[in-house]
Amino acid sequence: MKNIALFASGSGSNFQAIMDAVSSGNLRVNVKLLICDNPDAFVIKRAERAEVAVFSFQPKEYPNKVAYEAEILRQLQAQQVDFIVLAGYMRLIGKTLLEAYEGRIINIHPSLLPSFPGLDAVGQALDAGVKVTGVTIHYVDAGMDTGPIIAQKAIELHPEETKETLQAKIHHLEHELYPAVLKKLME
Ligand code: GRF
Repeated sequence: MKNIALFASGSGSNFQAIMDAVSSGNLRVNVKLLICDNPDAFVIKRAERAEVAVFSFQPKEYPNKVAYEAEILRQLQAQQVDFIVLAGYMRLIGKTLLEAYEGRIINIHPSLLPSFPGLDAVGQALDAGVKVTGVTIHYVDAGMDTGPIIAQKAIELHPEETKETLQAKIHHLEHELYPAVLKKLME
């Protein structure tokens, strides 16, 4: 079985969906570690409940990205992590981790990339007035949501769509798609 580390910054509903797939036997991976850049994030509670080890840190306590990513890399290597799975990790991955885990870092983004990269992809899609948006799972490179695409699923917007209704649909789709795609990649 592959060893993975999940990276998250916030609520962690995708973290939860992946853990649920693991505990129900639908996804056979070892989740070795949660890496979190926000010690107050709810995802840390989810990890404790699931008995997943946590490394949380505050970037401002390090001189720069090279320094905190060096610490993350030590943690990953100590747990023999094979793949990094980003699930709402709100930072660009730097060269330390990109070089150590080339081709083995995966992200989920709430739009049909290359449309609407970066922050608030759901709001960007609504503002643009598109009729279709969706979810993308992709390999991570040095850019902002630019690496090779692994999987995409589309969602149609209704005329009366709000940010809340669209966000809920996106999350629902993410929670199905991410465990299913990880299963294909890891098993
Ligand atoms: C998800 O929409 C994901 O696509 C994006 O950040 C959000 C994280 O949500 N990268 P959650 O913390 O998993 O609930």
